[in-house]
Order: sequence, then C-alpha cells, then structure tokens
Amino acid sequence: MRKTYLLTPGPTPIPESISALFAKPIIHHRTPAFQNLFEEVRHGLKYLYQTKGEVLLLTTTGTGAMETAITNLFQKGQKVITINGGKFGERWTQLAQTFGLHPIEIALPPGDALEPAALEECVIQNPDARAILFQASETSTGVVMPTEDICRIASRAGMLSVCDAITACGVFDLPMDTWGIDVLITGSQKALMLPPGLAMISLSEKAWQAHERADLPRFYFDLSRERHAQTKNQTAWTPAISLIQGLQESLRMIRDEGLHNVFKRHELLAKATRSAVKALHLELLSKKAPSNAVTAVIVPSSISDGKLIPKLMRDKHGVIIAGGQDELEGKIIRLSHFGYCDRFDIITGISALELTLQELGHSFELGHGVRAILKTYSENPKP
Ligand SMILES: Cc1ncc(COP(=O)(O)O)c(C=O)c1O
Repeated sequence: MRKTYLLTPGPTPIPESISALFAKPIIHHRTPAFQNLFEEVRHGLKYLYQTKGEVLLLTTTGTGAMETAITNLFQKGQKVITINGGKFGERWTQLAQTFGLHPIEIALPPGDALEPAALEECVIQNPDARAILFQASETSTGVVMPTEDICRIASRAGMLSVCDAITACGVFDLPMDTWGIDVLITGSQKALMLPPGLAMISLSEKAWQAHERADLPRFYFDLSRERHAQTKNQTAWTPAISLIQGLQESLRMIRDEGLHNVFKRHELLAKATRSAVKALHLELLSKKAPSNAVTAVIVPSSISDGKLIPKLMRDKHGVIIAGGQDELEGKIIRLSHFGYCDRFDIITGISALELTLQELGHSFELGHGVRAILKTYSENPKP
C-alpha cells in the first residue's frame, strides 16, 4: 500500500466533502434548484474577489479566461504591455500576438519580480498602450508580482490592469475594488480546491467600457452574453454543473475559515517551506519576492539531473511535486502549498524531498528540513 500526496501548483488536492458531491445525481441547469445554487456561488465569488462587481463563471480553464480577457477588451492592432516573468507571462504575449494585438513585452530574468520603475519607464515610452497584462503570482518561477503598484501605474496612465491571479486569488490578499484591479482572473483547480474546468473573470466599470468598444472575434466566450445570463442566475451555455456544486462547497469552506485566515495559513505554509529549503542547504529561485502559493527551489550543483528529484519523489515516495518548465526544466523543483493544504502536508513533502536528496548524494543533515518546519510552527501558532 502506498498513499499519494499532491503538492503541485494545480491541480491541487480536493477536500473529501467536495469529492463526495460529484457522486450525487446531476441537476438540470434550467431549474430553480440550479438558480439558487448559482445565486449563492455568485455571492461567494464576490467575497473571494473582494468586489461589488459581478464575477463571471466560464466553463474552461485559466487560459480560456485569459483568452476571454483579450477578445473581450481590445480592438485589432491595439498596443498592450505584457510582463513576462515566466511561462504564464509569456502566454499573455502569445495570446496578444495571436489575436492581432501589438504586445510590448517586459521580459524578466527567471526568479525576478517586476521593478515598478521599469514599468513606469515602459508606460512613458508607450503612452498609447491600452493595458498592462500580468500575473499576480508567476507559477513557473514562484514569484509574486507587485500587483498594487502595477494597478496604480496603469490607472495613472489610463490603462487597464489585467491580472492573471490563477495561483494568487484565494492565496494572498488581492482586494479587487480597493486596489483598482480592472480584470481579475482565476481557475478552479487552484486555491478553490476543485478539479480543472471552471474559470472566473471579473471586470471593473472601466474594463466594461473597453468591452463595449472591443472588436475581436468571439462567440462562446462573450462576456456581455454571460453577464446578461449570470445576473439572472443562469449561464449562457450548459455550464459544468457538478463543478459549480463543488464550487458552492469550496466557497463555503473559505467563508467558514475566513478569507484573511486563509491568507495567513498560506503565509505560514510558505514560510515553513522556505525555512526547510534553507536548512537543507538549498536556494530559492526567487530571493526577493517568493510567492506564498508555490516555492521554486534551485537544483543544487551536486545533482546533475534535476529531473530526477520529482521523478524519485513520485515513484519511490508517492509525493508529487512539479519540476521546472521550458528553460528551467531540470534546473528547479516547485513545491506547492496552497488550497486544501495544511501544516502536516508540508512536513510530508519535505520528508520525501530529504530522502530523495540523500539518495542523490546532496550533502545536508537528514531531518533538518522537517526540524526547521516544526520550529516555524512552534514560533508561529496556528492562525
Ligand atoms: C499563473 C497561471 N496562469 C495561467 C495558467 C493556465 O491555466 P490553465 O492550465 O488552467 O489553462 C496557470 C496554470 O497553471 C497559471 O498558474
């Protein structure tokens, strides 16, 4: 017998109370039962997003919602600024190019966060750009970006701030209305503790005005059509009903814990993970702005094939973590600590990492990672 532990930055583990819902008979979506469910979910999403605006549900994954933002906000040929801090920032550039926009990309070295001054400079050079497209948390490098600064710069320049918060929303504080985030996107298989298949997007008034003028081709992902239906507790098309039933439960769980307690839990888990990394003589990829969602760790030079770490952890110990992507393949590993994740999940992950590092000949004291975690917990009582 061997248990499996999922410590990847999406999909994340699913609580038993949510999995159990998927065994229930399906309900029809054009019924009062669905409308009641949907009404509660709409309120829960506004709480999660910290907005008075509508948060629209789409049956797609995060990338589908990113594409929706592009096709619903812009006109062909318009200029946008993209912040490329890794694979997902690069995706904004690719999407913009695909739909005939003119992206100006700020490319960051892997592991670096955006310096607001660099963005200010880019905005001065490109006053005709319509929007700044960025990640609140760049999952491929485990970096948190300065969302509040980005929104302030965008607002001053009359540009839209379009925030992919797919591994940020429900992980750390991103108050949409207070910070003036114009577009906020997330997906179900992350902090919402659900299987993949749902994405959420909310637009500020300024973004809705841009939507009125947008002329890129779209049909299925048309936000006017969705807003019209969803404010009546319906959806334009057949929705992923079972996932929405799961979402009702996950939003209840978040509300019961309290959004800010959820953030504190993630902060503690991230802090404990980072303390273990240091104790194991390893280095974080992000020195200055590590994300509370996922910790990216540089593979030590003593290990020639970095891809072996996630492979052995999975095959020998049943602990699934992520490796690096593209240019970071084999160079980093990523341990996730958000969603349905508590203090003892991190201990399991670090224990498996320690055994694996020992097998691969890395030099450290066995148990020091776990000890560092326990020390962090004892010094920071459970939120
Ligand atoms: C920050 C970020 N953006 C976009 C995506 C793409 O989302 P999906 O794979 O759900 O389409 C991911 C997925 O991991 C992500 O972490």
